[in-house]
Amino acid sequence: MHSFYNGCRETRIHLTLSLRAFFVHQRLMRTVEWDYDRSQLRMIEQRLLPAELKIVSFDDYRQVAAAIRDMVVRGAPAIGAAAAFGLALAARQSSARDVTSLRADLKDAAEVLQEARPTAVNLSWALKRMMQAAIQYEGSDAVELRDLLLAEAQRIADEDVAINERMATHGARLIDDGDTIIHHCNTGALATVDWGTALGVIRKAHELGKRVHVLVDETRPRLQGARLTAWELQQYGIPYEIISDNAAGYFLRSGQVQKVLFGADRVAANGDVANKIGTYMLALAAYDNGVPAYSVVPTSTIDLSLAHGGLIPIEERDPGEVLGLQVEGQPVVPPGSKARNPAFDVTPHRLLTGIITENGVVYPPFEENLARAVRGENLAEKTE
Ligand code: MRU
Repeated sequence: MHSFYNGCRETRIHLTLSLRAFFVHQRLMRTVEWDYDRSQLRMIEQRLLPAELKIVSFDDYRQVAAAIRDMVVRGAPAIGAAAAFGLALAARQSSARDVTSLRADLKDAAEVLQEARPTAVNLSWALKRMMQAAIQYEGSDAVELRDLLLAEAQRIADEDVAINERMATHGARLIDDGDTIIHHCNTGALATVDWGTALGVIRKAHELGKRVHVLVDETRPRLQGARLTAWELQQYGIPYEIISDNAAGYFLRSGQVQKVLFGADRVAANGDVANKIGTYMLALAAYDNGVPAYSVVPTSTIDLSLAHGGLIPIEERDPGEVLGLQVEGQPVVPPGSKARNPAFDVTPHRLLTGIITENGVVYPPFEENLARAVRGENLAEKTE
């Protein structure tokens, strides 16, 4: 199991260490970070949480691609940063002595990384940005280009943290003291380099002294909500209860929820949002009950090249993720059963109240206002 990172350095941090100290107060590491002493990429092994906090290190870009595909690292911005560092690793692995050959090796590596997962646009966004840096380099020193690429990956990671905190600040203004919020999937520090998107908003509101209560969608089939979001909320000291995904409609209809928050893996030009499977049903129920629903996204997740959500590629994952559930040690499905496992769905923009970005909250008409946010216009005044 997990054989793809055989040979990599691994660090296990057993639960005897206070996770709260690790994650919040000392924050010994980011979810995705470069180890400058060892010239390796370090990431939290997310598949083992909440049982075990383990750090894995990578010195081969192909292992990074496998880690993205197999969800050691997941969440759109975290995937983007991992791919950027993966390409910096590829540059170091390449034996090219001149800039032209190094660029050719980088192009091959970018294709391998790109294939890891299709829906989160942050992956191709980060790879494009890295390749652009390689192409724009005007010198003739392959060593210098390698350093430049690592610096660009580091910039992508640092910007992600700063952007997330700005989104959190804009979003926290929309949260009222005493709100109960339904949150889908995991959108926290684990899904980004640090802070998070939708969970970052909740964390910021909590830090500002607003009393919030989170109903955590467990988020079948991989349970990112029950496993990761609940774990993060515990570290932050934010009260929460886990609900099965199909309980969301009940809580919305009975008036127990004031806001619905989720992230996005790709937002089309018209504001349609691709996010973790189940988001569409949640947004429908929120809309039907007049509960505001917000998607929280960095502008790097907005893909203006796609006119509407129907054009967003939807990843279909191994049916084993659905069929493998066991209760009391027993499989829950009859042997030989088949399953379908789309990992994302598209929520039409008409169901959204707003899209929270680092440049402020985008309200309808989304087509016009999303383009303004992507251009870097400050939409914050409308938020206040
Ligand atoms: O399949 P995952 O776990 O990578 O999906 C993650 C999500 O859908 C998140 O909600 C999304 O990336 C947006 S928030 C960072």
